[in-house]
Amino acid sequence: MRVVRCANADAWTQLSRGALAGVALAAAMVGSGAVQAAPPAAAAQPTARQVVDQFQRNEGVFRGYRRNHARGVCVSGRFESSGDAARYSVAGVFGPRQRSAVIGRLSIPGTSPYAWDDGTPIRGMALQLTSADGQQWRTAMNAVPAFPVATPAADYEFMRLQQPDPATGDPDPKPLAAFFATHPRANAFRIWDQTTPPSASYATERYNSLDAFYLVDAHGRKRAVRWSMLPLARDDARRAPPAAPDFLDTDLARRLAHGPVRWRLSITFANPGDPVNDASRAWHGPHRQVIAGTLVIDAMQAQARGACRDINFNPLVLPRGIEPSNDPLLKFRADVYAESHRRRVREQHDPSATEKPTGATQRGH
Ligand code: HEM
Repeated sequence: MRVVRCANADAWTQLSRGALAGVALAAAMVGSGAVQAAPPAAAAQPTARQVVDQFQRNEGVFRGYRRNHARGVCVSGRFESSGDAARYSVAGVFGPRQRSAVIGRLSIPGTSPYAWDDGTPIRGMALQLTSADGQQWRTAMNAVPAFPVATPAADYEFMRLQQPDPATGDPDPKPLAAFFATHPRANAFRIWDQTTPPSASYATERYNSLDAFYLVDAHGRKRAVRWSMLPLARDDARRAPPAAPDFLDTDLARRLAHGPVRWRLSITFANPGDPVNDASRAWHGPHRQVIAGTLVIDAMQAQARGACRDINFNPLVLPRGIEPSNDPLLKFRADVYAESHRRRVREQHDPSATEKPTGATQRGH
């Protein structure tokens, strides 16, 4: 595998650490004490093009690759339903004794397919489940406790503040610090990001939907939920990662050589008062949970050749029996993923396809 790093390795590490949704946190800036600068005016609702352009400005253009979570590997297997979620949702994937085919992707955030696996503690899992009735469910989850911001406007503003200054190669720390001062959950995310050691394995991670959805039962009753994939592999979860840059792929290949890797799908039901439209707020305290089944991954393929390559893991591709909440990030994600997908597929099929000028810094080159 070709691995490249920019000359300023420290800056690269700082900027790529915790690149959730292209979020490149400027570690050097944090803890800089009192913040005087006023935050810039809140951005209006951004378009998908603006957001994908901003990913490219912040971290560069890697043609043919996803504009976020560019580094990853395709996986495949099945989902074995426990039947325990069937009374809450008519989705075929939850039916008793049902098995659904799975094509998935495990990834780390950022725009570079050459990023080092130890550059961020965040790992992603995207799945496309196809049940026996032909319905599809696509979900993209991250191994983080909550999203840093609640709205598309805040997310875009956060991204814009992380655009490197051409003079220094780093974002301007003052407005970024002001953003954290006025967005406490983004600041909590920053602290989590900087204090959580990167895991040595995709297999030991818990992946969370973060966004809320509704399960719809046979009587039309809707219940607000979030879901998580809970790892059954419990070994060496926080073992120091090996020195090789692509240790996550190596670890997964080693595990799969000995048999499938499994997760349990846990569905968490909202308590009264839990926010269902804000992915930046975790649901605290005891909650009713159901284990809907087991995800069994038994093969992996390089993303250049794997079936996951051209899939857009749009979180709004849902089967009958699962509906979106009114979380504004959901529609935003669907639009942005579509724009990213459109660009990368066109680049694969037409190598001469050019993007609009982006002012990209080509970090990592
Ligand atoms: C609940 C919050 C979010 C979660 C859990 C999440 C998770 C993920 C995951 C796991 C992937 C990799 C999918 C794959 O392997 O193909 C991904 C891709 C991506 N994400 Fe997100 N994400 C979230 C929010 C966002 C937001 C707010 C944005 C926009 C700023 C964004 C932009 C993207 C883009 C552009 C891609 C690449 C899409 C493609 O080309 O197929 N994500 N996300």
